Amino acid sequence: MFFQLPLRVFLFSLISLDVLANASPTENTNGYRLARGLPPLPPREFGRKKPGFEPTPVLRTRASPSPSSVVRYTGRLQVRSSDGSTIGYVQDKLGLPVSGGSDLTISLTASSTRKKQLNIVATATSFPSPFYLGASNQGSGNATIGTGSSTFLQFSNVQKTDALSQPVRVKSNGDTSVESAIWAINSTTKELTAQYVNPDGSLPNTILVYNDANDRLYFVGDTAAFNTSVAQVNLFVVN
Ligand SMILES: *[C@@H]1O[C@H](CO)[C@@H](O)[C@H](O)[C@H]1NC(C)=O
Ligand SMILES: *[C@@H]1O[C@H](CO)[C@@H](O)[C@H](O)[C@H]1NC(C)=O
Ligand SMILES: *[C@@H]1O[C@H](CO)[C@@H](O)[C@H](O)[C@H]1NC(C)=O
Repeated sequence: MFFQLPLRVFLFSLISLDVLANASPTENTNGYRLARGLPPLPPREFGRKKPGFEPTPVLRTRASPSPSSVVRYTGRLQVRSSDGSTIGYVQDKLGLPVSGGSDLTISLTASSTRKKQLNIVATATSFPSPFYLGASNQGSGNATIGTGSSTFLQFSNVQKTDALSQPVRVKSNGDTSVESAIWAINSTTKELTAQYVNPDGSLPNTILVYNDANDRLYFVGDTAAFNTSVAQVNLFVVN
């Protein structure tokens, strides 16, 4: 560290001197042309075969993502209170309660290029499709959450929607709109966090809360405005 800055300055000086020593560009050099506002010369040797050398191959085929960059998480969904204690596991039951059945198993895929807007898929469920886990307004007619708003969305099994999609109206129920691709996972802690997209395209605070009165999970934009007696919880993928 001690020598780094002086050395850099020194090297820079050498480069500057070198440039100065060669500072008589002829008409054929890009330095000359650039100094006069002319476009640079076309690269003459590029891709040309020189004796004894293979030309540098130009990759024209689409590079497929390396399989090692895809990470698949499988397991159960553990609900923890903010003090870290376990409340329960999301159950394989309609309504996705946190107790009173058998633990739901899920799968989620992340990759080096896609770490957010992920889908969680319920595997081997006892309830009928859809099998994605996301947010639903459950026919309440209001799919907008946010600061100061008491509006809530249910943590539900929903149809698959696109990344960053606004809520999609479910055809079988005109008032219900849903989103699935709202999840991000922390690869270290395996904590899941959600980012919902409002109908106007805005990205509200998306807080997961647990209501022990009915043993259900909800997404809200403002915990206090929703109900001061429900608590924010954290969701984790565990084995
Ligand atoms: C939905 O809730 C938001 C936030 O509370 C509110 O601003 C909006 O007026 C509501 N819309 C309807 C149609 O009730
Ligand atoms: C994952 O969680 C750990 C522990 O809370 C935190 O330090 C880290 O910054 C998180 N990573 C990301 C990418 O959010
Ligand atoms: C708030 O939550 C508590 C406990 O779950 C419940 O008893 C109460 O009815 C809720 N209040 C409102 C206004 O929903």
